[in-house]
Amino acid sequence: MKLLIVDATTEAQAYCAKRIEAFNQSDMEMLDLKVKLVSDRDFVGRVGEADVLLLGSGLGERATAIARQAMSVVPWLHIILFVTDEAYGGGAFRAAHSVGVRKVFPDSASPLDLLQELVAIHAEFRKEGRAREGRVIAVTHAKGGVGATSISAALGEVCSVFSRRTMLWDLDVETRDLSRSLTVNGVEAKVVSSWVNGSRDISRESLKDALIPISSDVSVLMPPDRMAESMDLVCHTDGMGIVQRILELARVMFDVIIVDTGGRMGPATGGLLRNADVVLVVIDDTILGLTAVDLYLTFVKTLVPSSDRIVFLVNPYSGALLGVPQIAAELEPVHHLGDMPWRLPPVPNDPKAALWPGSGRTLYSMGQKSTRVILERVARELGVLEGEPGGFQALPELSEPQHGAASGGWLKKVFGRKDSINQENLGGEKGGTGLPEEPK
Ligand SMILES: Nc1ncnc2c1ncn2[C@@H]1O[C@H](COP(=O)(O)OP(=O)(O)OP(=O)(O)O)[C@@H](O)[C@H]1O
Ligand SMILES: [Mg+2]
Repeated sequence: MKLLIVDATTEAQAYCAKRIEAFNQSDMEMLDLKVKLVSDRDFVGRVGEADVLLLGSGLGERATAIARQAMSVVPWLHIILFVTDEAYGGGAFRAAHSVGVRKVFPDSASPLDLLQELVAIHAEFRKEGRAREGRVIAVTHAKGGVGATSISAALGEVCSVFSRRTMLWDLDVETRDLSRSLTVNGVEAKVVSSWVNGSRDISRESLKDALIPISSDVSVLMPPDRMAESMDLVCHTDGMGIVQRILELARVMFDVIIVDTGGRMGPATGGLLRNADVVLVVIDDTILGLTAVDLYLTFVKTLVPSSDRIVFLVNPYSGALLGVPQIAAELEPVHHLGDMPWRLPPVPNDPKAALWPGSGRTLYSMGQKSTRVILERVARELGVLEGEPGGFQALPELSEPQHGAASGGWLKKVFGRKDSINQENLGGEKGGTGLPEEPK
Protein backbone atom coordinates (compact mmCIF):
# COMPACT_ATOMS: atom_id res chain seq x y z
CA MET A 1 0.00 0.00 0.00
CA LYS A 2 1.50 3.33 -1.01
CA LEU A 3 1.08 6.15 1.44
CA LEU A 4 1.82 9.74 0.48
CA ILE A 5 2.28 12.18 3.35
CA VAL A 6 1.66 15.81 2.48
CA ASP A 7 2.47 18.69 4.76
CA ALA A 8 3.76 22.22 4.41
CA THR A 9 7.28 21.84 5.78
CA THR A 10 9.76 18.98 5.98
CA GLU A 11 9.54 19.14 9.77
CA ALA A 12 5.77 18.76 9.63
CA GLN A 13 6.09 15.86 7.17
CA ALA A 14 8.59 14.16 9.47
CA TYR A 15 6.19 14.66 12.38
CA CYS A 16 3.49 12.79 10.43
CA ALA A 17 5.93 10.07 9.43
CA LYS A 18 6.81 9.48 13.08
CA ARG A 19 3.34 8.00 13.59
CA ILE A 20 4.14 5.40 10.95
CA GLU A 21 7.55 4.72 12.49
CA ALA A 22 5.72 3.87 15.71
CA PHE A 23 4.08 0.89 14.00
CA ASN A 24 5.83 -2.34 14.56
CA GLN A 25 7.72 -3.99 11.76
CA SER A 26 5.25 -6.79 11.26
CA ASP A 27 2.31 -4.38 10.87
CA MET A 28 4.28 -2.48 8.25
CA GLU A 29 5.05 -5.71 6.41
CA MET A 30 1.48 -6.93 6.55
CA LEU A 31 0.26 -3.70 5.01
CA ASP A 32 3.12 -3.77 2.52
CA LEU A 33 3.45 -0.10 3.40
CA LYS A 34 5.62 2.22 1.28
CA VAL A 35 5.76 5.79 2.54
CA LYS A 36 6.71 8.95 0.66
CA LEU A 37 6.81 12.53 1.88
CA VAL A 38 6.01 15.56 -0.21
CA SER A 39 5.15 19.23 0.24
CA ASP A 40 1.80 20.70 -0.74
CA ARG A 41 3.53 22.49 -3.64
CA ASP A 42 4.74 19.25 -5.22
CA PHE A 43 2.03 16.80 -4.29
CA VAL A 44 0.11 16.86 -7.60
CA GLY A 45 2.97 15.18 -9.44
CA ARG A 46 3.12 12.36 -6.86
CA VAL A 47 -0.48 11.72 -5.98
CA GLY A 48 -1.09 9.49 -9.01
CA GLU A 49 1.05 6.72 -7.55
CA ALA A 50 -0.54 6.81 -4.06
CA ASP A 51 -3.22 4.56 -2.59
CA VAL A 52 -3.65 6.61 0.56
CA LEU A 53 -3.05 10.32 1.11
CA LEU A 54 -2.24 11.53 4.58
CA LEU A 55 -2.67 15.27 5.02
CA GLY A 56 -0.83 16.80 7.98
CA SER A 57 -2.20 19.42 10.31
CA GLY A 58 0.40 21.95 9.13
CA LEU A 59 -1.70 22.43 5.99
CA GLY A 60 -4.41 24.13 8.04
CA GLU A 61 -7.38 25.24 5.97
CA ARG A 62 -5.54 24.48 2.71
CA ALA A 63 -6.10 20.78 3.43
CA THR A 64 -9.64 20.72 2.03
CA ALA A 65 -8.56 22.31 -1.26
CA ILE A 66 -5.72 19.78 -1.51
CA ALA A 67 -8.10 16.89 -0.79
CA ARG A 68 -10.51 18.13 -3.46
CA GLN A 69 -7.71 18.49 -6.00
CA ALA A 70 -6.33 15.02 -5.13
CA MET A 71 -9.74 13.42 -5.56
CA SER A 72 -10.11 15.00 -8.99
CA VAL A 73 -6.79 13.44 -10.04
CA VAL A 74 -7.33 10.03 -8.36
CA PRO A 75 -11.05 9.55 -7.58
CA TRP A 76 -10.48 6.22 -5.74
CA LEU A 77 -7.90 7.70 -3.37
CA HIS A 78 -8.36 7.25 0.40
CA ILE A 79 -7.60 10.46 2.29
CA ILE A 80 -6.82 10.74 5.98
CA LEU A 81 -6.62 14.18 7.50
CA PHE A 82 -4.85 15.29 10.66
CA VAL A 83 -5.91 18.55 12.28
CA THR A 84 -4.70 20.31 15.39
CA ASP A 85 -6.42 19.33 18.62
CA GLU A 86 -8.06 22.79 18.70
CA ALA A 87 -9.50 22.39 15.23
CA TYR A 88 -10.76 18.84 15.88
CA GLY A 89 -14.56 19.03 15.91
CA GLY A 90 -17.75 19.18 13.87
CA GLY A 91 -16.58 22.01 11.61
CA ALA A 92 -13.44 20.11 10.57
CA PHE A 93 -15.45 16.92 10.01
CA ARG A 94 -18.01 18.66 7.78
CA ALA A 95 -15.38 20.42 5.70
CA ALA A 96 -13.31 17.25 5.34
CA HIS A 97 -16.11 14.85 4.49
CA SER A 98 -17.64 17.22 1.96
CA VAL A 99 -14.47 16.89 -0.13
CA GLY A 100 -14.19 13.11 0.25
CA VAL A 101 -11.82 12.76 3.21
CA ARG A 102 -12.31 9.36 4.77
CA LYS A 103 -11.18 10.01 8.32
CA VAL A 104 -10.16 12.98 10.46
CA PHE A 105 -7.79 12.57 13.40
CA PRO A 106 -6.51 15.10 15.95
CA ASP A 107 -2.73 15.44 16.23
CA SER A 108 -2.88 13.81 19.66
CA ALA A 109 -4.46 10.62 18.30
CA SER A 110 -2.61 7.42 19.01
CA PRO A 111 -0.61 5.94 16.13
CA LEU A 112 -2.76 2.84 16.71
CA ASP A 113 -5.84 4.76 15.55
CA LEU A 114 -4.06 5.52 12.31
CA LEU A 115 -2.92 1.92 12.08
CA GLN A 116 -6.49 0.71 12.50
CA GLU A 117 -7.65 2.94 9.67
CA LEU A 118 -4.86 1.72 7.40
CA VAL A 119 -5.70 -1.90 8.24
CA ALA A 120 -9.35 -1.20 7.32
CA ILE A 121 -8.29 0.34 4.00
CA HIS A 122 -5.99 -2.59 3.31
CA ALA A 123 -8.82 -5.05 4.03
CA GLU A 124 -10.98 -3.20 1.50
CA PHE A 125 -8.16 -3.37 -1.05
CA ARG A 126 -7.93 -7.10 -0.51
CA LYS A 127 -11.64 -7.51 -1.03
CA GLU A 128 -11.42 -5.49 -4.23
CA GLY A 129 -8.38 -7.45 -5.36
CA ARG A 130 -6.18 -4.33 -5.23
CA ALA A 131 -3.80 -5.76 -2.64
CA ARG A 132 -1.95 -8.95 -3.32
CA GLU A 133 -3.40 -11.78 -1.32
CA GLY A 134 -1.96 -15.18 -2.07
CA ARG A 135 -4.36 -18.08 -2.20
CA VAL A 136 -3.67 -20.76 0.37
CA ILE A 137 -4.30 -24.38 -0.60
CA ALA A 138 -3.87 -26.81 2.31
CA VAL A 139 -3.34 -30.27 0.87
CA THR A 140 -4.30 -33.01 3.25
CA HIS A 141 -5.43 -36.63 3.32
CA ALA A 142 -7.46 -38.90 5.52
CA LYS A 143 -5.26 -41.91 4.88
CA GLY A 144 -1.59 -42.10 3.88
CA GLY A 145 -0.17 -42.87 0.49
CA VAL A 146 -3.01 -41.46 -1.63
CA GLY A 147 -0.79 -38.95 -3.37
CA ALA A 148 -1.12 -35.75 -1.32
CA THR A 149 2.57 -34.93 -1.72
CA SER A 150 2.47 -35.80 -5.42
CA ILE A 151 -0.50 -33.49 -5.97
CA SER A 152 1.17 -30.66 -3.98
CA ALA A 153 4.30 -30.90 -6.12
CA ALA A 154 2.33 -31.23 -9.35
CA LEU A 155 0.22 -28.15 -8.58
CA GLY A 156 3.46 -26.31 -7.81
CA GLU A 157 4.73 -27.20 -11.23
CA VAL A 158 1.50 -26.13 -12.93
CA CYS A 159 1.86 -22.79 -11.13
CA SER A 160 5.44 -22.55 -12.35
CA VAL A 161 4.37 -23.09 -15.96
CA PHE A 162 1.72 -20.39 -15.56
CA SER A 163 4.25 -18.03 -13.92
CA ARG A 164 2.35 -17.82 -10.64
CA ARG A 165 4.59 -16.85 -7.73
CA THR A 166 4.24 -19.85 -5.53
CA MET A 167 5.43 -21.08 -2.16
CA LEU A 168 5.41 -24.83 -1.70
CA TRP A 169 5.40 -25.46 2.02
CA ASP A 170 6.47 -28.82 3.30
CA LEU A 171 4.75 -29.20 6.65
CA ASP A 172 5.17 -32.96 6.77
CA VAL A 173 7.91 -32.64 9.35
CA GLU A 174 8.47 -36.35 9.80
CA THR A 175 8.87 -37.61 6.25
CA ARG A 176 9.77 -34.33 4.51
CA ASP A 177 8.53 -36.11 1.42
CA LEU A 178 7.87 -32.97 -0.57
CA SER A 179 11.37 -31.57 0.02
CA ARG A 180 13.02 -34.94 -0.55
CA SER A 181 11.09 -35.75 -3.68
CA LEU A 182 11.89 -32.32 -5.11
CA THR A 183 15.48 -32.97 -3.94
CA VAL A 184 15.49 -29.77 -1.98
CA ASN A 185 17.75 -29.45 1.04
CA GLY A 186 19.75 -26.67 2.59
CA VAL A 187 20.69 -24.45 5.50
CA GLU A 188 17.48 -22.54 4.85
CA ALA A 189 15.70 -25.08 7.07
CA LYS A 190 17.71 -23.70 10.02
CA VAL A 191 15.83 -20.43 9.66
CA VAL A 192 12.56 -22.30 10.14
CA SER A 193 13.98 -23.87 13.32
CA SER A 194 15.03 -20.43 14.53
CA TRP A 195 11.42 -19.19 14.22
CA VAL A 196 10.20 -22.08 16.31
CA ASN A 197 12.81 -21.78 19.08
CA GLY A 198 12.38 -18.01 19.09
CA SER A 199 15.95 -17.10 18.17
CA ARG A 200 14.76 -15.24 15.08
CA ASP A 201 11.65 -13.25 14.24
CA ILE A 202 9.35 -14.25 11.44
CA SER A 203 9.75 -11.31 9.10
CA ARG A 204 9.75 -10.76 5.38
CA GLU A 205 13.54 -10.81 5.45
CA SER A 206 13.81 -14.07 7.37
CA LEU A 207 11.14 -15.70 5.20
CA LYS A 208 13.25 -14.81 2.17
CA ASP A 209 16.21 -16.44 3.87
CA ALA A 210 14.18 -19.57 4.58
CA LEU A 211 12.96 -20.10 1.03
CA ILE A 212 14.66 -22.38 -1.46
CA PRO A 213 13.88 -21.35 -5.04
CA ILE A 214 13.34 -24.21 -7.49
CA SER A 215 12.23 -22.24 -10.52
CA SER A 216 11.86 -18.59 -11.38
CA ASP A 217 8.48 -18.43 -9.65
CA VAL A 218 8.37 -21.31 -7.21
CA SER A 219 10.14 -21.64 -3.85
CA VAL A 220 10.04 -24.33 -1.20
CA LEU A 221 9.73 -23.75 2.53
CA MET A 222 11.17 -26.77 4.31
CA PRO A 223 10.28 -28.12 7.75
CA PRO A 224 12.65 -27.10 10.57
CA ASP A 225 16.07 -28.75 10.26
CA ARG A 226 15.90 -30.25 13.76
CA MET A 227 13.45 -32.78 15.13
CA ALA A 228 12.82 -30.90 18.40
CA GLU A 229 11.69 -27.77 16.55
CA SER A 230 9.75 -29.88 14.04
CA MET A 231 7.77 -31.48 16.83
CA ASP A 232 7.22 -28.16 18.54
CA LEU A 233 5.96 -26.65 15.31
CA VAL A 234 3.30 -29.27 14.66
CA CYS A 235 2.45 -30.46 18.20
CA HIS A 236 2.77 -27.39 20.43
CA THR A 237 0.02 -24.80 20.54
CA ASP A 238 2.63 -22.09 19.77
CA GLY A 239 2.74 -23.65 16.31
CA MET A 240 -0.62 -22.06 15.53
CA GLY A 241 0.77 -18.55 15.88
CA ILE A 242 3.87 -19.42 13.89
CA VAL A 243 1.86 -20.90 11.03
CA GLN A 244 -0.49 -17.94 11.06
CA ARG A 245 2.36 -15.46 10.85
CA ILE A 246 4.10 -17.35 8.04
CA LEU A 247 0.84 -17.48 6.10
CA GLU A 248 0.19 -13.76 6.55
CA LEU A 249 3.59 -12.90 5.14
CA ALA A 250 3.44 -15.51 2.39
CA ARG A 251 0.07 -14.13 1.27
CA VAL A 252 1.71 -10.76 0.68
CA MET A 253 4.75 -12.22 -1.10
CA PHE A 254 3.16 -14.95 -3.24
CA ASP A 255 0.16 -15.52 -5.50
CA VAL A 256 -0.23 -19.10 -4.38
CA ILE A 257 0.75 -21.00 -1.23
CA ILE A 258 0.46 -24.78 -1.42
CA VAL A 259 0.97 -26.62 1.85
CA ASP A 260 1.61 -30.34 2.13
CA THR A 261 0.30 -30.93 5.64
CA GLY A 262 1.18 -34.61 5.61
CA GLY A 263 -2.30 -35.31 6.93
CA ARG A 264 -1.21 -34.90 10.56
CA MET A 265 -3.72 -33.25 12.87
CA GLY A 266 -2.42 -30.87 15.50
CA PRO A 267 -2.63 -27.21 16.50
CA ALA A 268 -0.54 -26.00 13.56
CA THR A 269 -2.45 -27.98 10.92
CA GLY A 270 -5.72 -27.05 12.60
CA GLY A 271 -4.82 -23.35 12.35
CA LEU A 272 -3.73 -23.85 8.78
CA LEU A 273 -6.96 -25.57 7.74
CA ARG A 274 -8.93 -22.78 9.38
CA ASN A 275 -7.00 -20.11 7.49
CA ALA A 276 -6.75 -21.82 4.11
CA ASP A 277 -8.84 -20.70 1.17
CA VAL A 278 -9.10 -24.31 0.06
CA VAL A 279 -8.68 -27.52 2.02
CA LEU A 280 -7.85 -30.05 -0.65
CA VAL A 281 -8.55 -33.52 0.67
CA VAL A 282 -6.80 -36.08 -1.52
CA ILE A 283 -8.58 -39.43 -1.47
CA ASP A 284 -8.39 -42.67 -3.36
CA ASP A 285 -11.22 -44.72 -4.77
CA THR A 286 -11.05 -47.63 -2.36
CA ILE A 287 -13.52 -48.71 0.34
CA LEU A 288 -10.91 -48.28 3.07
CA GLY A 289 -10.13 -44.83 1.76
CA LEU A 290 -13.78 -43.90 1.83
CA THR A 291 -14.35 -44.91 5.45
CA ALA A 292 -11.23 -42.98 6.44
CA VAL A 293 -12.61 -39.87 4.75
CA ASP A 294 -15.87 -40.29 6.63
CA LEU A 295 -14.03 -40.20 9.95
CA TYR A 296 -11.68 -37.44 8.86
CA LEU A 297 -14.52 -35.18 7.75
CA THR A 298 -16.03 -35.16 11.21
CA PHE A 299 -12.81 -33.47 12.43
CA VAL A 300 -12.22 -31.22 9.45
CA LYS A 301 -15.75 -29.85 9.33
CA THR A 302 -15.38 -28.46 12.84
CA LEU A 303 -12.21 -26.61 11.81
CA VAL A 304 -13.02 -25.18 8.41
CA PRO A 305 -15.24 -22.08 8.62
CA SER A 306 -17.31 -23.02 5.59
CA SER A 307 -17.69 -26.44 4.01
CA ASP A 308 -17.43 -24.72 0.58
CA ARG A 309 -13.72 -24.56 1.24
CA ILE A 310 -13.38 -28.34 1.41
CA VAL A 311 -12.61 -29.87 -1.98
CA PHE A 312 -11.95 -33.54 -2.72
CA LEU A 313 -9.53 -34.84 -5.27
CA VAL A 314 -9.66 -38.51 -6.16
CA ASN A 315 -6.12 -39.71 -6.90
CA PRO A 316 -4.76 -42.02 -8.17
CA TYR A 317 -7.96 -42.96 -9.88
CA SER A 318 -8.08 -46.51 -11.12
CA GLY A 319 -11.65 -46.29 -12.36
CA ALA A 320 -12.05 -49.91 -11.23
CA LEU A 321 -13.78 -49.30 -7.92
CA LEU A 322 -15.68 -46.16 -7.06
CA GLY A 323 -16.25 -43.11 -9.19
CA VAL A 324 -16.50 -39.58 -7.77
CA PRO A 325 -20.35 -39.64 -7.86
CA GLN A 326 -20.42 -42.93 -5.95
CA ILE A 327 -18.00 -41.63 -3.31
CA ALA A 328 -20.07 -38.46 -2.99
CA ALA A 329 -23.28 -40.50 -2.73
CA GLU A 330 -21.81 -42.50 0.15
CA LEU A 331 -20.66 -39.48 2.15
CA GLU A 332 -23.24 -36.83 1.37
CA PRO A 333 -26.15 -38.28 3.39
CA VAL A 334 -24.02 -37.91 6.54
CA HIS A 335 -21.93 -34.84 5.79
CA HIS A 336 -24.19 -32.61 3.65
CA LEU A 337 -21.41 -30.78 1.85
CA GLY A 338 -23.28 -30.10 -1.38
CA ASP A 339 -21.95 -30.40 -4.95
CA MET A 340 -19.04 -27.96 -4.87
CA PRO A 341 -16.56 -30.13 -2.91
CA TRP A 342 -17.00 -32.88 -5.48
CA ARG A 343 -16.42 -30.80 -8.59
CA LEU A 344 -12.82 -31.83 -9.36
CA PRO A 345 -12.12 -34.44 -12.01
CA PRO A 346 -10.25 -37.53 -10.75
CA VAL A 347 -6.53 -37.74 -11.52
CA PRO A 348 -5.77 -40.93 -13.46
CA ASN A 349 -3.43 -43.55 -12.15
CA ASP A 350 -0.40 -42.78 -14.30
CA PRO A 351 2.25 -45.46 -13.68
CA LYS A 352 4.99 -43.70 -15.62
CA ALA A 353 4.45 -40.49 -13.69
CA ALA A 354 4.63 -42.42 -10.39
CA LEU A 355 8.40 -42.27 -10.80
CA TRP A 356 8.47 -38.50 -10.38
CA PRO A 357 10.12 -38.27 -6.91
CA GLY A 358 13.76 -37.31 -7.26
CA SER A 359 13.49 -36.76 -11.01
CA GLY A 360 13.39 -32.95 -10.89
CA ARG A 361 9.91 -33.17 -12.34
CA THR A 362 6.46 -33.97 -10.98
CA LEU A 363 3.36 -35.92 -11.80
CA TYR A 364 2.47 -33.00 -14.08
CA SER A 365 5.40 -32.94 -16.47
CA MET A 366 6.00 -36.69 -16.24
CA GLY A 367 2.35 -37.47 -16.76
CA GLN A 368 0.53 -38.35 -19.92
CA LYS A 369 -1.25 -35.58 -21.71
CA SER A 370 -4.56 -36.52 -20.07
CA THR A 371 -2.94 -36.29 -16.60
CA ARG A 372 -1.50 -32.88 -17.40
CA VAL A 373 -4.81 -31.61 -18.74
CA ILE A 374 -6.59 -32.76 -15.60
CA LEU A 375 -3.97 -31.24 -13.27
CA GLU A 376 -4.33 -27.91 -15.04
CA ARG A 377 -8.06 -28.13 -14.72
CA VAL A 378 -7.70 -28.90 -11.03
CA ALA A 379 -5.41 -25.90 -10.58
CA ARG A 380 -7.91 -23.68 -12.34
CA GLU A 381 -10.84 -24.97 -10.31
CA LEU A 382 -8.87 -24.30 -7.14
CA GLY A 383 -8.41 -20.72 -8.28
CA VAL A 384 -4.63 -20.75 -8.37
CA LEU A 385 -4.35 -19.82 -12.04
CA GLU A 386 -5.51 -16.49 -13.31
CA GLY A 387 -8.95 -16.19 -14.77
CA GLU A 388 -12.14 -17.67 -13.53
CA PRO A 389 -12.05 -21.13 -12.01
CA GLY A 390 -13.60 -23.61 -14.35
CA GLY A 391 -12.73 -21.70 -17.51
CA PHE A 392 -10.26 -24.33 -18.61
CA GLN A 393 -8.79 -24.33 -22.08
CA ALA A 394 -5.98 -26.65 -22.98
CA LEU A 395 -2.79 -24.74 -23.56
CA PRO A 396 -1.36 -24.90 -27.05
CA GLU A 397 1.75 -26.50 -25.53
CA LEU A 398 -0.26 -29.45 -24.39
CA SER A 399 -1.32 -30.32 -27.89
CA GLU A 400 2.19 -29.93 -29.30
CA PRO A 401 4.01 -33.25 -29.28
CA GLN A 402 7.45 -31.59 -29.39
CA HIS A 403 6.85 -30.37 -25.87
CA GLY A 404 6.64 -33.89 -24.51
CA ALA A 405 8.97 -35.49 -22.02
CA ALA A 406 11.06 -37.19 -24.65
CA SER A 407 11.99 -33.92 -26.28
CA GLY A 408 13.14 -32.37 -22.98
CA GLY A 409 11.47 -29.16 -24.20
CA TRP A 410 9.24 -27.12 -21.93
CA LEU A 411 9.33 -29.78 -19.23
CA LYS A 412 12.90 -29.05 -18.42
CA LYS A 413 12.19 -25.39 -18.08
CA VAL A 414 9.85 -25.99 -15.21
CA PHE A 415 11.66 -27.49 -12.28
CA GLY A 416 15.27 -28.36 -11.94
CA ARG A 417 16.78 -25.61 -14.01
CA LYS A 418 19.24 -23.78 -11.82
CA ASP A 419 19.86 -20.89 -14.19
CA SER A 420 16.18 -20.01 -14.16
CA ILE A 421 16.28 -19.00 -10.52
CA ASN A 422 15.31 -15.44 -10.16
CA GLN A 423 15.20 -13.89 -6.74
CA GLU A 424 13.79 -10.64 -8.01
CA ASN A 425 10.25 -11.68 -7.22
CA LEU A 426 11.27 -12.13 -3.60
CA GLY A 427 12.89 -8.73 -3.59
CA GLY A 428 16.22 -10.17 -2.52
CA GLU A 429 19.66 -10.89 -3.82
CA LYS A 430 20.16 -14.36 -2.49
CA GLY A 431 22.11 -16.91 -4.49
CA GLY A 432 19.71 -19.70 -5.44
CA THR A 433 20.20 -23.19 -4.14
CA GLY A 434 18.27 -24.86 -6.92
CA LEU A 435 17.87 -28.54 -7.02
CA PRO A 436 20.71 -30.71 -5.84
CA GLU A 437 21.45 -33.51 -8.27
CA GLU A 438 20.31 -36.50 -6.26
CA PRO A 439 17.70 -37.07 -3.59
CA LYS A 440 18.99 -37.83 -0.11
N1 LIG B 1 -1.89 -40.24 -10.03
C1 LIG B 1 -0.91 -41.08 -9.75
N2 LIG B 1 -0.55 -42.05 -10.60
C2 LIG B 1 0.42 -42.92 -10.29
N3 LIG B 1 1.13 -42.88 -9.16
C3 LIG B 1 0.84 -41.93 -8.26
C4 LIG B 1 -0.21 -40.98 -8.51
N4 LIG B 1 -0.26 -40.17 -7.43
C5 LIG B 1 0.69 -40.58 -6.57
N5 LIG B 1 1.34 -41.63 -7.06
C6 LIG B 1 2.45 -42.37 -6.42
O1 LIG B 1 1.98 -42.89 -5.19
C7 LIG B 1 3.00 -42.88 -4.20
C8 LIG B 1 2.52 -42.21 -2.95
O2 LIG B 1 2.30 -40.85 -3.23
P1 LIG B 1 2.56 -39.67 -2.21
O3 LIG B 1 3.82 -39.87 -1.47
O4 LIG B 1 2.35 -38.42 -2.96
O5 LIG B 1 1.33 -39.93 -1.22
P2 LIG B 1 1.02 -39.21 0.16
O6 LIG B 1 -0.47 -39.18 0.28
O7 LIG B 1 1.71 -37.92 0.23
O8 LIG B 1 1.64 -40.23 1.20
P3 LIG B 1 2.11 -40.01 2.73
O9 LIG B 1 1.03 -40.63 3.55
O10 LIG B 1 3.39 -40.75 2.84
O11 LIG B 1 2.23 -38.55 2.96
C9 LIG B 1 4.21 -42.19 -4.84
O12 LIG B 1 5.14 -43.14 -5.25
C10 LIG B 1 3.62 -41.48 -6.04
O13 LIG B 1 4.54 -41.37 -7.10
MG1 LIG C 1 2.98 -37.14 1.71
